[in-house]
Amino acid sequence: MQLSTKHLLGIKDLTPQDISTILSTATEFKGVLQRQIKKVPSLRDITIVNLFYENSTRTRISFELAEKRLSADTINFTASGSSAAKGETLLDTVNNILSMKVDMVVMRHSASGAPHFLAKHIPAAIVNAGDGINEHPTQALLDAFSIKESLGTLEGKKVVLIGDIMHSRVALSNIYLLNKMGAEVMVAGPPTLIPKYIAEALNVKVEYNLKKALQWCDVANVLRIQLERQNQVLFSSLREYNLAYGVSKKLLDSLNKEIVVMHPGPINRGVELDSDVADGTHSIILQQVENGVAVRMAVLYLLSGAKPTAN
Ligand code: CP
Repeated sequence: MQLSTKHLLGIKDLTPQDISTILSTATEFKGVLQRQIKKVPSLRDITIVNLFYENSTRTRISFELAEKRLSADTINFTASGSSAAKGETLLDTVNNILSMKVDMVVMRHSASGAPHFLAKHIPAAIVNAGDGINEHPTQALLDAFSIKESLGTLEGKKVVLIGDIMHSRVALSNIYLLNKMGAEVMVAGPPTLIPKYIAEALNVKVEYNLKKALQWCDVANVLRIQLERQNQVLFSSLREYNLAYGVSKKLLDSLNKEIVVMHPGPINRGVELDSDVADGTHSIILQQVENGVAVRMAVLYLLSGAKPTAN
């Protein structure tokens, strides 16, 4: 099995067949992760560098674990503590690392387009682990995997992305993926956090009333308010944001249906999501994190060009 692309830079570049292939391969790897011995030799002799120029907990650990489960050799690079702090360019850093015979690069960067730039200049396969406000493709893939696991299919399901759509790479990757796979997509939140022409540009519904959005959906994917990416005040206060757009247990109980609640993490508890929802029965947040390892194993395996192994 192969993907139509050498790199995973964004969901925008994937075909529906690519997405199906990644999700079905991830199902196989989830089976491996449930065995007593959770390791396969699929990427033996492949060396992967994890380049993290921006903070991360889930994605960094998940990629590293996925690589170890596949028996790859891994190198971890974080910008702080490296020669990037002395002014070395991204391309110089990567070329130096590649001269040590690295096969694949997993990269997170605060600049949108950084992995696309690298892909034009180096021969290694690149996996985008989140670039600025552009895309976070493996997050969308693990979200899709988790929805399929909960509801059986993506096709025809109604998914609402709630909150800071403007600054969210998770939102953009989810919108591309869900549209390609036949789900219905809505974005909901305050008008200041939703791009003006998103409905026409990306084929989504827009709703400014949280209760109406929740009443419409099968799945609510609640997004983090990205204060670090906002250079102006886009809502009055976190307290008022919570009152108008925070997902609470009381609100979920007032719906005449059951919905699935997701969040990519890290959560601002008491802002976009109350603790009794994050830790409650509607939430599949920790299943998302668990599924992330299998999904990243699938992506690395499919991009490595490795031959299938017997075990
Ligand atoms: N969901 C996600 O990307 O989390 P991290 O920033 O902790 O990697």
